[in-house]
Amino acid sequence: MPETDQAGEQHPDVVWMDGELVPFAEANVHVLSNGLLYGAGVFEGVRCHATDRGPAVFRLDDHLRRLNDSMRIYLAALPHPVEVLAHGVIDTVRANGYSDCYVRPIVWMGPGLDPLAATLHTAIACWPWENYHAGADTAGAIRVKVSSFSRVDANAMPTAAKATGQYLNTFLAKVDALLAGYDEAVLLNSGGMVADGTAENVFAVRDGVITTPPTVDGALGGITRDTVIVLARALGYEVREASLRRSDLYVADEVFLTGTAAGVAPVRDVDGRPPAAGAPGPATQALRRLYADVVGGRVSDWAHWLHYVDGGPVGRGDCQHVVDGALIAAPLLGAVIDERV
Ligand SMILES: Cc1ncc(COP(=O)(O)O)c(C=O)c1O
Repeated sequence: MPETDQAGEQHPDVVWMDGELVPFAEANVHVLSNGLLYGAGVFEGVRCHATDRGPAVFRLDDHLRRLNDSMRIYLAALPHPVEVLAHGVIDTVRANGYSDCYVRPIVWMGPGLDPLAATLHTAIACWPWENYHAGADTAGAIRVKVSSFSRVDANAMPTAAKATGQYLNTFLAKVDALLAGYDEAVLLNSGGMVADGTAENVFAVRDGVITTPPTVDGALGGITRDTVIVLARALGYEVREASLRRSDLYVADEVFLTGTAAGVAPVRDVDGRPPAAGAPGPATQALRRLYADVVGGRVSDWAHWLHYVDGGPVGRGDCQHVVDGALIAAPLLGAVIDERV
């Protein structure tokens, strides 16, 4: 079982390093690595959730595809095929005996002055996961500050990549927000439009329409963002990808953030301005519930997004489906279909 270190933090027993599982204490990085010196690395944040068929990793293929895209943006190829990394993720979760956990695949550049010749290293670590925002209220709602730090410009560092170095940008915004008594920051792009949270995408709901900034405004192509867009449309909401001003967040009926770490996080105020429908509002609540059911393997329609750590067939006959915006248990689904026929 995972051990506890001197600071009382739980750490994994083993970490996947360059193709093999090694004890936690041996998962080390050279002090002259470009990854350390210059933030030359790319990474992913992936979630594994407990389900009644054991732990299941959510949208693993999509995360590894984005990891590969991040590498391509930085002019390098993954040191291992994605299939090997997918097995690495599963093996690491299984070997540590976790079920609800966060998984961190990372590729970084080792020592060497020539960036095109430096060796690449890969690690996959995981650790137990509970709530991301410690300051969230009992409904999971958080306070958000629009940051005075802009989201890094895509022509300075491509915002489509998850590169370790660019997270100093969101670090500044996050620390600023925490020091001001907020839980999270929203960054505007250099043109003043809403871009992203520090590790989340931003959504605003007004008059039943859900809007999220397009990736050209600096939003990362979030996998939870994509998931929530699919689920919201299945629930009957109109979803638009359109630019948002700071004031659109101030006058929204609901605001929520999405991310692998945060899930679907209701926002209870933006710069001290509460959303009209409270937090969580009805759309946020419906999406939170459906998202929890989907990642928990309780909705057949999106069972293909789950990668079960202990294997087994995808999909279940006895769970729920979404029909006309409502979750329907499988036995009732037959009746719905009969009625339509
Ligand atoms: C800057 C930024 N925006 C948004 C997200 C949310 O993306 P995802 O839903 O894929 O975790 C993340 C997290 O990866 C992020 O780092």
